[in-house]
Amino acid sequence: MYAKKNTEMFAQIGSIIASLMFIWAIFQQYFPYQLRNLIDKYSQRLVTFIYPYIQITFHEFTGERLMRSEAYSSIENYLSSKASTQAKRLKGDIAKNNQSLILSMDDKEEICDEFNGMKLWWASGKKASNSNSISLHQNIDEKRYYKLTFHKHNRDVILGKYLSHVLKEGKAIQVKNRQRKLYTNSGSHWSHVVFEHPSTFETLAMDLEKKEMIIDDLITFSKAGEFYARIGRAWKRGYLLYGPPGTGKSTMIGAMANLLSYDLYDLELTAVKDNTALRKLLIEISSKSIIVIEDIDCSLDLTGQRRKKKEEEEKDPRQTQGENVEEKDGKNSQVTLSGLLNFIDGLWSACGGERLIVFTTNYVEKLDPALVRKGRMDKHIELSYCGFEAFKLLAKNYLNIESHYLFGTICELLKEIKITPADVAEHLMPKTSSKDAQVYLKSLIQALELAKEEAKVKSEEDAKIV
Ligand SMILES: Nc1ncnc2c1ncn2[C@@H]1O[C@H](COP(=O)(O)OP(=O)(O)O)[C@@H](O)[C@H]1O
Ligand SMILES: [Mg+2]
Repeated sequence: MYAKKNTEMFAQIGSIIASLMFIWAIFQQYFPYQLRNLIDKYSQRLVTFIYPYIQITFHEFTGERLMRSEAYSSIENYLSSKASTQAKRLKGDIAKNNQSLILSMDDKEEICDEFNGMKLWWASGKKASNSNSISLHQNIDEKRYYKLTFHKHNRDVILGKYLSHVLKEGKAIQVKNRQRKLYTNSGSHWSHVVFEHPSTFETLAMDLEKKEMIIDDLITFSKAGEFYARIGRAWKRGYLLYGPPGTGKSTMIGAMANLLSYDLYDLELTAVKDNTALRKLLIEISSKSIIVIEDIDCSLDLTGQRRKKKEEEEKDPRQTQGENVEEKDGKNSQVTLSGLLNFIDGLWSACGGERLIVFTTNYVEKLDPALVRKGRMDKHIELSYCGFEAFKLLAKNYLNIESHYLFGTICELLKEIKITPADVAEHLMPKTSSKDAQVYLKSLIQALELAKEEAKVKSEEDAKIV
């Protein structure tokens, strides 16, 4: 309170000094040059002597740039939580993802902040600009700014630690509120749509322990920027998700992006002409993103088939006449394994930072050992058939039940029969107007029993052949 009064008093002194400066400006042309300089110098000293506070102004638009200053946006975000508790007049706006409200203090409000026991004040303001530039924005002639006031004793800490703390926090809030994007490449260009996949780790049915481990791993990674810098490694991590189709590999990638608030880059390798094009795409990827290469075994011909195909073409050149083979079978990308490896852990992989690279495959054994060697892909995650734990989560999500007398039967059947979570989900999907869980569970049991029967017949046939 005392400090607050102090600032008010000094603010008044400040305005008196400002008035004096104004009078001074009018009269200065009548003073001789030498004297003017002298008075200038001493008045500055007087101001710093009696006014122990330092002020820093952050303008919304600086210089000639039409872009909003990054510092200003970060400060706005940083102050939003404090503004909602302290300021009397607030401004509200919807964040770009249309889900959360951003509050900021209105013009000419002041709020107080504390850092390591030091007090400081943020004030918002605007002033009319005298620029003559033509602008599309009707309010551009009102220049907004934030002014930070703090005691000169705290200068070093505020200018160093505090301001970087503010910028970092503000940026983090901005990232959380931003609209995320799903990019895909057509040739060597990225195009994007808004990323709105609803999947989360809560709705992902899998072994709970494994799930916890993955979440932990992801969060640790996202916070480890300083660690990676210290040990001199690029801030990136590779995941290989493998398992039969329908076990939730793509769903998990969506959940990862939602958990970390990262953008997704769905890289279609077959559409990339060659290694140079791949590098070009890579350079354009921003940080805080997940690069996904789905079905890596299909997208990159690593099994030598490409060579075979070429031989065939040479034998029968008519096949290629008049048509673009590349588009026809989509497998003629010239991206090589070494190009891809360079992309994963070569020099190029370090640009951007804070990136996950996720490969998915249905057949991990088909992949080139060079690609799956430890150290290339940091984590191998197997997504497999639906166990009882995963089933219970699906039943909870789809039918809103935690237990049922049929669960015992299903538990026993799941131990014997391999069924993917996608297939289980299919049976639990509402198809009739009936809300009775029993209907859906029975349909699942029927399917499981049928599969069991088929498996039995097949094993009997196999036995006969042998
Ligand atoms: N583990 C799972 N948990 C919840 N839903 C799943 C799971 N696995 C599959 N599904 C459902 O099945 C559909 C297909 O899954 P997907 O993630 O595309 O499998 P994959 O990429 O492994 O082939 C998804 O839309 C999802 O709703
Ligand atoms: Mg998939």
